Amino acid sequence: MSVTVETARHASDELLAGLNRLLPQLSSSAPPLTMGDLEVLVGSPAVTLFVASNGGVIVGTLTLVVFAIPSGLRAWIEDVVVDEASRGLGVGAALTTAATDQARQRGVRSVDLTSRPSREAANSMYRNLGFTLRETNVYRYLIED
Ligand SMILES: CC(C)(COP(=O)(O)OP(=O)(O)OC[C@H]1O[C@@H](n2cnc3c(N)ncnc32)[C@H](O)[C@@H]1OP(=O)(O)O)[C@@H](O)C(=O)NCCC(=O)NCCS
Repeated sequence: MSVTVETARHASDELLAGLNRLLPQLSSSAPPLTMGDLEVLVGSPAVTLFVASNGGVIVGTLTLVVFAIPSGLRAWIEDVVVDEASRGLGVGAALTTAATDQARQRGVRSVDLTSRPSREAANSMYRNLGFTLRETNVYRYLIED
């Protein structure tokens, strides 16, 4: 398998379809991405959308968010997913490495992410790639409609 990892710079029907094939494999509750959503994502200076392709077919994605706060430049990795048919072949590792490489080039000192313990493949991948567990509490405030 010959996989390429690139950053998506433009919204397109092919990119939208590829992401909407992948996102349900990450979260059953994520609503489908619209073309308007995708245009906002690719146009955001804080967001880098990485896309892995095999023979022109999108097989994985990862989003890197880089933002400045008073204590420095920070980064988060979000929405990492590889198509079920292409797992175990190095795609997730290639996406994650591309993201940490870019964060390094942009002067970010650390990259954060969260992953539920039940996501065994993901947790193993992140640890293999040098991510270490932080002792912190992760909180969420739910905004009700
Ligand atoms: C997590 C995920 C992105 C990994 O992608 P992948 O392309 O299959 O991973 P890779 O082939 O690059 O493997 C990288 C490492 O992940 C780990 N890994 C991959 N599949 C694994 C499995 N089934 N069980 C345990 N570890 C696994 C291994 O440490 C592997 O390194 P190794 O090959 O040197 O042993 C993919 O399984 C996935 O999309 N899962 C569903 C969505 C998800 O959990 N996303 C992460 C949200 S935090």
